[in-house]
Amino acid sequence: MDMRVNIAGVEWKNPVTVASGTFGSGAEYADFVDLNQLGAVTTKGVANVPWKGNSTPRVAEVYGGMMNAIGLQNPGIDLFCERDIPFLKQFDTKIIVNVCGHAPEEYLEVVERLADEPIDMMEINISCPNVNAGFLAFGQDAHHVEKLTGQIKKIAKQPIIMKLTPNVTDITEIAKAAEAGGADAVSLINTLTGMKIDVNRRTFAVANKTGGVSGPAVHPIAVRMVYQAAQAVQIPIIGMGGICTAEDALEFILAGASAVSVGTANFHNPRATLDVIEGIEAYMKKYGFESVKDMVGIVR
Ligand SMILES: Cc1cc2nc3c(=O)[nH]c(=O)nc-3n(C[C@H](O)[C@H](O)[C@H](O)COP(=O)(O)O)c2cc1C
Repeated sequence: MDMRVNIAGVEWKNPVTVASGTFGSGAEYADFVDLNQLGAVTTKGVANVPWKGNSTPRVAEVYGGMMNAIGLQNPGIDLFCERDIPFLKQFDTKIIVNVCGHAPEEYLEVVERLADEPIDMMEINISCPNVNAGFLAFGQDAHHVEKLTGQIKKIAKQPIIMKLTPNVTDITEIAKAAEAGGADAVSLINTLTGMKIDVNRRTFAVANKTGGVSGPAVHPIAVRMVYQAAQAVQIPIIGMGGICTAEDALEFILAGASAVSVGTANFHNPRATLDVIEGIEAYMKKYGFESVKDMVGIVR
């Protein structure tokens, strides 16, 4: 059985990675998960300088998942390159660095800095508010997505994955804009904006008022969006949103994703990625699939 997948010229040993921000930079999980077993490790978002994130409380439980408003707290690219990349290089897995910024210049600074680092791919989080466009997220405006993708592609040396936000009217328009800008792949979905009120404190459950909803509750929405994106673009898709089991992951693959990311599930089951890999193998054996590639997008 062939578990390998090829994402924009990078061969992963299997189609499973972790969703950015739910696995640190791998070190927190290395006692529970053999990182050598993962197709790739996707790091938490990193910016040009350290970000301290939002005020607390920053997470809340919701039905079928969680809501977070961490605010992309991160140590900045200098410490990241010094500490996190050498850590991940010890393992036989692909390294995908997730990049965030408030303005194109901030993204470009990080991409330029990473160009000569020994990483395999970059994933660009365009759910960040754009300070130059009234704080609308980059990923909510097709024009900005195409432009930013093009600017990044000019300086990046590794393949670029544009990570799409689901908080849009038409995901196909945004996926096409990323492709038109030269993206090598797209990943989706990021979290869905939600709100929870703490009735006993009579205030918002997270200090930011709104937060990003993730976990099983968002899975059917994510599968629908991956399917739509797969009909709209030719570039590979990495599917995510609420994956807890191999069946959840297989839905994305059958809908058109070439690979998948496990996110919130890592918090309650640190072995979730390994369960998903084993479950995909068992499914392939049961139904006689020789290669993961043969399952991609077969439900139309
Ligand atoms: C606590 C937390 C932190 C996150 N941080 C990031 C991040 O830094 N960059 C990013 O692109 N997505 C981030 N995400 C979004 C996830 O990568 C993923 O797109 C989303 O949670 C949906 O997948 P899931 O339902 O499996 O968690 C974060 C999600 C959570 C729950």
